[in-house]
Order: sequence, then structure tokens, then C-alpha cells
Amino acid sequence: MNPEKSKTANTPEAEPAPTLNTVPMWLFGALFVLLCTGAIYFDARGGWFDARVYQPYVRPPEDFQPRDPGGENLGAGKRVYDMACAVCHMPSGLGNPGVHAPPIAGSEWVVAPGPNRLIRIVLHGLQGPIEVAGKQYGAGVMTPFKDVLSDQDIAAVLTFIRMNPEWKHKATPVTPAQVAKVRELTKDRGSVNWTAAELLQIPESD
Ligand code: HEC
Repeated sequence: MNPEKSKTANTPEAEPAPTLNTVPMWLFGALFVLLCTGAIYFDARGGWFDARVYQPYVRPPEDFQPRDPGGENLGAGKRVYDMACAVCHMPSGLGNPGVHAPPIAGSEWVVAPGPNRLIRIVLHGLQGPIEVAGKQYGAGVMTPFKDVLSDQDIAAVLTFIRMNPEWKHKATPVTPAQVAKVRELTKDRGSVNWTAAELLQIPESD
């Protein structure tokens, strides 16, 4: 132990004594100037936000727009098509000679003014001779979908095949209400397939 040090520590002079000391005014002034400079610097640089956030919204060029001319949700219809129709009509819509399925792409039945015949084809199926895009078909049978697809599904898939930009189709969309109406009108038909001759008697649109 160092005797010198313990002695100093014990002397009353070493005790801290409370004294009155004023804070210098220039310190407040300096602090104020510092805060102002900081705030101006911060504001001028957009705070911690990227300055681009404040740029006005610019519509992206057409190429980046969803290819959805009618503003319809073609995606839902495409899913139904891939699941229920593509097996025979092919994902390309070009049809399949193997099952005698005519093309959907470029078919006058598909882009008809109204969906009255199309809805019936999907609800009850189709068989017998039919001309599609100038070619004769008739050796195949299309199965009914009335117990498999809802009004929403049928409306979606028909909207998709009528408006698919890849096939350059620009017909009108089909609503679930239109499907429900035809379903009700034909409810006593059961699962009897339509023939093209029968469908041609029905007006294409209301
Ligand atoms: C089992 C195979 C098969 C499936 C699945 C099928 N089709 Fe067909 N589809 C056919 C055949 C075969 C014909 C032609 C019938 C005939 O010769 O009378 C046809 C005809 C059509 C026609 C009229 C002719 C034309 O090509 O424009 C439309 C429209 C059509 N199908 C739409 C659909 C849609 C929509 C779906 C899915 C919901 C579907 N098909 C599912 C086999 C199928």
C-alpha cells in the first residue's frame, strides 16, 4: 500500500465540493446552428428516402403491359383451358387430328358475335359433322362439361378462347350470368351432345 496516496485520499481537500458553474451561452448558440444546418442538409437530400420516390408516375411502354386487351382476367380462363380443353384441342389451340378435335384458334364458332352456341357446346358436348375454318370434322366426340365446370369456369374459359391475343381473337367476353341462363334453359337436356346442325338453329347472340 502506498502511504502517500492513502493520506491524500483522506484529506478533506480531496473531497469534491459542490460549486455553482453557469453553462456558457455560446454552447446553446453552437448547438442551435448545428441542428439547423443538419436539418437543412437532411431536407435538401430527401431525408433517407431515395429521391426517385418523388418522381411522377410514368406509364410503362405497351410491351410491359399485360396482354389483356379487354381488361379481362384471361389467366383464370387459361388455367381452365389447360386443364379441361388442351388435352384434345392442344395448348396451341390448333386441334388434334388424333382425336378429330378441330382447331380453336381461328375457328368461326369461337369468335362468333355471341356465346350462345359456345356455352351449349361446353355444357353438353358435341358430335356429328361440323365445318370449322373451311374443313370438315365429325369423327370425334366432345364430352359434356356441365357437371365438371362451374358457370365461372365456363365463362372464364370461353372469355379466354374468344379474346386470346396469341390467336388474334378479339370477340366479346362471356359472363357467368350468360352461362347460368343457358344452363337453366337447357337443364332438361341431360348429357345429350349437340350436333352442329342443331346449334345452327340457335341464334349466336341474344
Ligand atoms: C375429349 C376431347 C375434347 C375435349 C376435352 C374438349 N373438346 Fe372441344 N371438341 C372436341 C371434338 C372432337 C370436337 C368436334 C366434335 C364434332 O366433330 O362434332 C370439338 C369441338 C369444339 C368446338 C366447336 C368447333 C371448334 O373447334 O370451334 C369448340 C368451340 C370446342 N370444342 C371447345 C372446347 C372447350 C372450350 C373445351 C374445354 C372446356 C373443349 N372443347 C374440350 C373434343 C374435345
